[in-house]
Amino acid sequence: MRLDPALAPVTEEVTAFDLPVTGRLPAELRGRYLRIGPNALGVEDAAAHHWMRSEGMVHGVRLRDGRAEWYRNRWVRSDEVRRRLGEPELGIRPRVGADFSCNTHVIGHGGRVLTLTEGGAAPQELSYELDSIGPCSLGASGPGFTIPAHTKGDPRTGELHGVSYVVGLDHVRHTVLDAAGELTHVQDVEMGGSVMVHDLALTERYVVVYDSPITFRPEAQRAGAAVPFAWDDRRPTRVGLLPRAGGGVRWFEVSPCFASHTLNAYDDGPRVVVELVTFPERFDIGRLTADRYGALVRWTVDPAAGTVREEGLDDHPQDFPRVSDSVVSRRHRYGYLAATAAMFRAYVPLDGPVPDGAFDNALIKHDLARGSREIHRFASDAAVGEAVFVPAESATAEDDGYVLAYVHDPDRGAADLVVLAAQDFTAEPLARVHLPRRIPLGLHGSWLPD
Ligand SMILES: [Fe+2]
Repeated sequence: MRLDPALAPVTEEVTAFDLPVTGRLPAELRGRYLRIGPNALGVEDAAAHHWMRSEGMVHGVRLRDGRAEWYRNRWVRSDEVRRRLGEPELGIRPRVGADFSCNTHVIGHGGRVLTLTEGGAAPQELSYELDSIGPCSLGASGPGFTIPAHTKGDPRTGELHGVSYVVGLDHVRHTVLDAAGELTHVQDVEMGGSVMVHDLALTERYVVVYDSPITFRPEAQRAGAAVPFAWDDRRPTRVGLLPRAGGGVRWFEVSPCFASHTLNAYDDGPRVVVELVTFPERFDIGRLTADRYGALVRWTVDPAAGTVREEGLDDHPQDFPRVSDSVVSRRHRYGYLAATAAMFRAYVPLDGPVPDGAFDNALIKHDLARGSREIHRFASDAAVGEAVFVPAESATAEDDGYVLAYVHDPDRGAADLVVLAAQDFTAEPLARVHLPRRIPLGLHGSWLPD
């Protein structure tokens, strides 16, 4: 048995102050960098355990005035987690959705910190210092529909858009929260089946809905499968344009794939450009394994012609695409992704061999206007997951700012928070904050400025 040192769960919650820094932290970085991922809280039956269903743990570093003030990691408390940690239960039943230890994304919206998981989990709210406040009804819109794992914020209006699904229901729901977190719009979209929809895209005119042929299997659920979804050869892969101004969705067929994560989308005259990471046909979502891993593609949807032009932008395996939040739904030039040797070596089997080469040791910056890329490579046996872009205060260009990521340093057996200058992407990091512990490579996160 070999537990992957970059992925295995950690067993303690830690608080550390005044962290050592190599290099110079930009004084203008005032806020918290938070990232979440599954971190199993004790596993009785490893064979029956699925990484994606593990309890969520959030890791955060607070930066201010050129200092790294603290690091904290905390399990996201559901009542089940409280019980297992020997803490008093809250006994709060969420108004909508399940009381689940969210593990997929952590965002800030409407003055709250929210942890999120798709498929019917209620968001769990955290305090500034990452303690669980409890399940939150923000975004609750009826049976099981809550804020999904992935949302898109419109930088002009402050609205937060989501497309959520509930296991077993044949429709998905588009919801809009205003900047204060009030639910302002709900529209259901018929899918003709219970489909896993992991992400969405947003343009000024459209909500872009993905319909990948990964469907709910009641028989797998009855047999106890943790992820009762599987590829369905009989379904096409489609991309849908749902007008933000109102009206029905219009579907366009694309080559079979799983639409994993959106880089960004924008209107280009009458056309709609969507850049995203796709996984190949027959992707096995339950095992997170595939022959070929995520690649960056561009779909140009032409509603007048009824066609989609599909282009490969980079077939080096990669995922966790991010743009500057300031260009979400608008034309972007730059994208930041994590190289993935074989994507998640994750479905991290808790016992049994770990396939080699999941998360890689590199971040990729794409210049999509020039069609070029730069690669920042860390130490050969280091590992890095999602990075986020933080604009400089006086930014005059889209890439004027910083790229932040947790990087596993195998020599120390711990993680660094690495800060890169986005315009000098391959140079030595501006700063490395040396954290006291490992941070298992996980899923998604956010920079939350003070
Ligand atoms: Fe995701």
